[in-house]
Amino acid sequence: MSLQDSQWWRDAVIYQVYPRSYADANGDGVGDIAGIRAQLGHLRDLGVDAIWMSPWYPSPMADAGYDVADFRDIDPAFGTLTEAEALIEEAHAAGIRMIVDIVPNHISSEHPWFKAALADEKAKERDYFWFRPGRGENGDEMPTDWRGEFGGTTWTRTGDGSWYLHLFTPEQPDLNWDHPDVRAEFESILRFWFDRGVDGIRIDSAALLLKDPQLPEVLEDNPHPFHDLDGVHEVYRAWRRVADSYGGNRALIGEVWMPEVERFANYLRPDELHAAFNFDFLGCAWDPRLMRECVDRTLDAHKAVGAPATWVLSNHDVTRHVTRYGREDTTFSFDNNLDGTPVDLELGTRRARAAALLSLSLPGATYIYQGEELGLWENENIPPEQFQDPMWGRRGHSRDGCRVPLPWTGDEAPFGFTTATPWLPQPAEWKDRTVQAQTGDPNSMLELYRSAIALRRTESFADFSWLELGRDVLAFCRGQDFACVVNMSGAPIALPANQSVLLASGPLDGDRLPPDTAVWLRMTS
Ligand code: NOJ
Repeated sequence: MSLQDSQWWRDAVIYQVYPRSYADANGDGVGDIAGIRAQLGHLRDLGVDAIWMSPWYPSPMADAGYDVADFRDIDPAFGTLTEAEALIEEAHAAGIRMIVDIVPNHISSEHPWFKAALADEKAKERDYFWFRPGRGENGDEMPTDWRGEFGGTTWTRTGDGSWYLHLFTPEQPDLNWDHPDVRAEFESILRFWFDRGVDGIRIDSAALLLKDPQLPEVLEDNPHPFHDLDGVHEVYRAWRRVADSYGGNRALIGEVWMPEVERFANYLRPDELHAAFNFDFLGCAWDPRLMRECVDRTLDAHKAVGAPATWVLSNHDVTRHVTRYGREDTTFSFDNNLDGTPVDLELGTRRARAAALLSLSLPGATYIYQGEELGLWENENIPPEQFQDPMWGRRGHSRDGCRVPLPWTGDEAPFGFTTATPWLPQPAEWKDRTVQAQTGDPNSMLELYRSAIALRRTESFADFSWLELGRDVLAFCRGQDFACVVNMSGAPIALPANQSVLLASGPLDGDRLPPDTAVWLRMTS
């Protein structure tokens, strides 16, 4: 893939950089842009097509940067706008596109708009948010009983007695997307980053923007007064017009958590977003029947609107899949982390290796969360007093275990990530998972990812069709001569005849494929 390719998002390999935890160059224990620039070679060697950068804007960090105080600058902890521009340029020079993360549902309570709204009831900014009087005689009951996305309540009372809405933390007041100034501001923010050469926008909490202005309670016949309202599509049609005005190869990628696939696909209609994360696949159990159904559901839903599917195994919000796949319950939910369930890391790693080949050969784009290529697992041993995630304390779950800084070199923490103490502790066992330790080891996760991504570039993957190799095997062809086989049964299986192995996720047993192992095959007749 080259930077000239249009529609690159359709089959790109996109790597999520979580800037706090990628690499620290200034020695304060927190990752930064200088660290990313210094380690850009890792991404070039891995062969990814694009970087999705989690928020790097000025922020009080009440929600690790998803509380943005200024969308047109960079937080000093990460560097400067000039450094960000240099990184965009250097990434492009290395053939890597850049996607930035925009958070439109809410902003930081330190954003000038919210400060102005709080300071003066008559300020025009007041209408950019959801200020409402309380219920009850003294107005001291919240306007609604809506439950927050992190658990807990969704309204906070201000000094003047009114309440404001926040679906996440009180430091993240929700914006009023019915207001034209809010819409204009975000279109201008998109242009700000497109003008700096970014190739795409990841849209945070994309389905939440609009709220039912009557603020009804969540009821059986109206279960979503703040989720997936029809009017949200007009916002994205306007964004699409902005993206298209840059020549057609800027992508909009939505974070859309939506159990109903048809409603999910609505976001991907030809005049809306280009792609959205496939959380159905991310949450799916390691189970051949469920995975197959998920793949079918995904491909059907996307085909209906002509959009490319995406394949996502992990991100900064969920338990790392090495850990998930090593548990008895292999699904993802926000409630099954840190619950003391035993984890078999060897099994989880074996499955994660197979899942790498699976997710890199299904039709569509594949997303890699930093550290996934190193086979990192969830750090479930962070002392709670070190937790920084606001979800902890509200939902009894912390996402910090998947946000631990990357191990680069050496035998002990901080493994070359920083010269100081890293902002979250790294497991000592990661000494075998550093980039240095894995480079050149043909059995390492890193070399598996490098080989798979390199092969994916040279293969011309064609039409998808299932290959029937038994109930507990997930097997499919891409055109006549390429197949992927994932053995999800508990026993070895025979590989099909007339093939040669292009790549295997683990050792084969003669011409049999061991359990929880995947292969890419060249079919010869
Ligand atoms: C989704 C982001 O991925 C998550 O990290 C954040 O906490 C919420 N949106 C709120 O912005």
